[in-house]
Amino acid sequence: MTVLVTGGAGYIGSHTVLELLQAEQNVLVLDNFSNSSSESLKRVKELTNKTVTLIEGDIRDKALLETLFTQHSIDSVIHFAGLKAVGESTEIPLDYYENNVWGTINLLQVMKQFNVFKFVFSSSATVYGDPQTVPIKENFPLSATNPYGRSKLMVEDICRDLAASDSNWKIALLRYFNPVGAHESGRIGEDPNGIPNNLLPFIAQVAIGKREALAVFGDDYDTVDGTGVRDYIHVVDLANGHLKALAHLAKQNGCVAYSLGTGKGYSVLEMVKAFEKASDRPVPYKIVARRPGDIACCYADASFAKEVLSWTATRNLEQMMKDSWRWQSNNPEGYKK
Ligand code: NAD
Ligand code: UD1
Repeated sequence: MTVLVTGGAGYIGSHTVLELLQAEQNVLVLDNFSNSSSESLKRVKELTNKTVTLIEGDIRDKALLETLFTQHSIDSVIHFAGLKAVGESTEIPLDYYENNVWGTINLLQVMKQFNVFKFVFSSSATVYGDPQTVPIKENFPLSATNPYGRSKLMVEDICRDLAASDSNWKIALLRYFNPVGAHESGRIGEDPNGIPNNLLPFIAQVAIGKREALAVFGDDYDTVDGTGVRDYIHVVDLANGHLKALAHLAKQNGCVAYSLGTGKGYSVLEMVKAFEKASDRPVPYKIVARRPGDIACCYADASFAKEVLSWTATRNLEQMMKDSWRWQSNNPEGYKK
């Protein structure tokens, strides 16, 4: 039996493929390389000494999906493929809805056609909007403030409707908090295009000397030191959450959402300090205005995933920082050498 992993050459996908291969699963990856390259999976093969079939193609290509489902004995799908930059999503919303929403509908239609009903979806903590309290539980109200977030929420709603319409479906909606870090080998990691939007890749590029200073978006939030607080989770822990969710689907009924986080929040300045310690490099920063759309504080109540999936994050902040730095310093240009 084969797991189809869409977007498996990307940051979280490549780490998940590695863990799947190590767990002796057959893996088929479909990726259009719009935000990745085949190099990540070449390295995954080297690290695991296992093979993975990689198809270059698009989830929006129904004929291609039908061919893949005909040729391979796919019995479940982990769906990472999509666009993920919040700022960009406000500029080109149609591309976001086409890739993230229509692309997913296409995939679900072909799954249904081939009687494949096990689906693990990359959702995001962004669906909790600006929470009234923390820690955030799965039953908190959902909302979105930008096209990216709305595309995730729309797919969640589609999945809930689908599961309600047909009891064959078994769907896990995984709401990631803030994935950071890299595989401990330093061979695979996050390789953002251009100027990173997210905090950790930006800090890493400052530490390596590619950028002058970090702009800290606001120090007047109601948090420990005024800077934004987030629940950072090691990407390998997150990858393992997918294996747990996939294994649990056989026993699960319908569509269930799980928050994948550590349950701990760290401020931007705490992250800067921790990275300086791990890299032994200074990370200069300046305080600038708040970034529109940012919230003060966001961290998970991670107890539901622990109880139901027997999953919990085990890697601490120091490991996240050390692994980020190892990846960044060994691969200053990412996969481009
Ligand atoms: P990524 O960009 O590294 O990986 C996404 C992969 O999907 C890329 O390899 C890209 O080439 C591929 N892709 C995009 N559109 C495609 C299409 N139409 N057909 C085929 N392949 C396509 O991103 P990531 O950080 O690994 O994120 C994976 C998923 O998790 C995304 O859906 C993202 O929205 C979600 N997510 C990410 C974060 C985060 O902080 N990284 C947080 C919450 C949710
Ligand atoms: C962002 C997205 C969110 C997405 C998540 C994971 C926005 C508004 N939200 O969330 O939808 O799910 O990434 O991909 O873009 N920070 C700085 N300077 C920087 C970068 C970030 O101070 O250069 C701060 C932010 O204000 C925030 C924290 O660092 O307090 C984390 O930021 P980031 O990594 O972008 O993640 P989120 O804001 O949680």
